[in-house]
Amino acid sequence: MYYLDFLRSLHVALEPRSYMEIGIRHGDSLALARCPAAGIDPEFNLHAELGPEVTLFRETSDEYFERSDPLAPLAGRPVDLAFIDGMHLAEFALRDFANVERNARWTSVAVFDDILPRTSEEAARDRRTVTWTGDVFKLLGILDRHRPDLLCLRVGTEPTGLLLVLGMDPGSRALDRRYDEIVAEVVVPDPQVLPVDVSERHRVLDPTAVLASSAWQLLREARDRQEPRAAGLRALRRTVRRDLGRVGPGPLRRLLATA
Ligand SMILES: C[S@@+](CC[C@H](N)C(=O)[O-])C[C@H]1O[C@@H](n2cnc3c(N)ncnc32)[C@H](O)[C@@H]1O
Repeated sequence: MYYLDFLRSLHVALEPRSYMEIGIRHGDSLALARCPAAGIDPEFNLHAELGPEVTLFRETSDEYFERSDPLAPLAGRPVDLAFIDGMHLAEFALRDFANVERNARWTSVAVFDDILPRTSEEAARDRRTVTWTGDVFKLLGILDRHRPDLLCLRVGTEPTGLLLVLGMDPGSRALDRRYDEIVAEVVVPDPQVLPVDVSERHRVLDPTAVLASSAWQLLREARDRQEPRAAGLRALRRTVRRDLGRVGPGPLRRLLATA
């Protein structure tokens, strides 16, 4: 399934009341939003027709999150759905996620693009290819290890996969605290070495099965009831396991996460 088709169906399933997109380029993914939305990109060049409630910001995501009220264009609502598709370097994507999470609620969903590069060249930090994922794939391991409380779904969309992050905790500062340590560990010069589970798409979920899960209904209803995170997250994990099987970190990653 092409990633834009998946995202279109995700908007329908989740019915977000607020949407944030980091990296909009021609507006193809931003055009899917049917709610108050903020699009952030220092160099966008729109081709697509956007919905009436979209506000555009021609600036970097770091500049955007320095604003005193980043939720103002969303009528003050927390971000229900975010698409993180800006600068394709691991440390930028990590900052984008931490900033999105701080402005979200546990029922929100964050989506990273390009987490399944096909070659080491495509994943290079120094861009040399037309289609470029950079080293955003490292977010898979970073979140498994440093935020095992999150529910991470790797979805096998074309061309280069999506990572859906569920169960966010707006009060968590774990990634901020460990940011320098994480960057020192993961930012390494090219060539980038692709782990086998990325290059061979291990533990990757079928997009149709993900969209058919009742997790989206659970999240919508929990959002409407303003259910607290702890109980809601337990029910969400049960639902995801029933619908999609085990999606958490593998045994080695789980050991590392608690080390
Ligand atoms: C892959 S394109 C986005 C495509 C779009 N999301 C879609 O699927 O139709 C990446 C965009 O990120 C933008 N970008 C680069 N650095 C950024 C940053 N620091 N903050 C926000 N956007 C950034 C680029 O200008 C580019 O337009």
